[in-house]
Amino acid sequence: LSSARAFAPASVGNACVGFDILGIALSGAGDEVEVTLRTDTTEIRITEITGVVANLPKEARANTTGAALLAMHEDLNLTYGLDVKIHKGIPFGSGMGGSAASAVAAAVAGAAIYKAVTKKTLPLEKQFAYALEGERVAVGAAHPDNVAPCLYGGLTLSSPLFTKPVHKVPMPSGLFCVLVHPNVEVETKHARQILRPEVRMQVYVHQTALLAGFVLGSATKNTDLMAESFRDLLIEPQRQHLIPAFDKAKAAACAVSGCLGFSISGSGPSVFALARSANVAKKLALEIKNQFSLADVESQAYISSLPAKGAHLITKKNK
Ligand code: HSE
Repeated sequence: LSSARAFAPASVGNACVGFDILGIALSGAGDEVEVTLRTDTTEIRITEITGVVANLPKEARANTTGAALLAMHEDLNLTYGLDVKIHKGIPFGSGMGGSAASAVAAAVAGAAIYKAVTKKTLPLEKQFAYALEGERVAVGAAHPDNVAPCLYGGLTLSSPLFTKPVHKVPMPSGLFCVLVHPNVEVETKHARQILRPEVRMQVYVHQTALLAGFVLGSATKNTDLMAESFRDLLIEPQRQHLIPAFDKAKAAACAVSGCLGFSISGSGPSVFALARSANVAKKLALEIKNQFSLADVESQAYISSLPAKGAHLITKKNK
């Protein structure tokens, strides 16, 4: 094996109720990374960036993909180098977990080369830690709520406070996630800087209840509890002004019967809703897109059946 190629999906992180800790893997959009083994150097070299975002840094240390691979190589003292091709399917500044996806795809492809060279399997937790270093380069903070669902799939709860950094939360089957990306850019760094550093006790208590209710509802297949818990009292009110027609899109989505809730995907501008069925999801996509279009903003909708798969290898070239 001299090359490995991995796909990593878009994700919603945070997923409304759990700021920086709860995320959902999506299907239908994602990034691809191909790495090729070099035995004549130990360098990580980004040779090509294609797709919907092309103007990313090519210097490995400044690039999410490069940083994840460098973290792997430095931690494991690897004596080979890699040429790296990145294909972006996730738009920049979209709130769809694009930086996490590039870092995760790099970790998964890098792990395949590592296995071929050393015959050792790199545990998922190690791949997770390296991908987080990529996220740190993009955002300035290693928040795990996109990297975790992107790598592990499904609905994930993750925190550096846990011994095992990622826990998959069981989900009821038959649910769908509708993500709509309006064509405006929100930089995560900016969307984090505008957040107030303090939380009022009352808000803390209520938000904690909502997070616990959502996770419990999901794990016990109680979709009514999920729906009534799906509210962000803390972050959404501080960020919604960054998104055109947010109030109208939310009102239109929540009026659709079978919608479990609506919020901002990550730091926006994408918004997302959870739906009880594929038909509800289609209706939600139309309603939300319609509100953006009334505000003269073009948008793209992605519908994912939940739980969605995490990152995986897509090609192997044996030479
Ligand atoms: N949880 C982070 C935030 C993710 O909302 O700032 C951004 O992609």
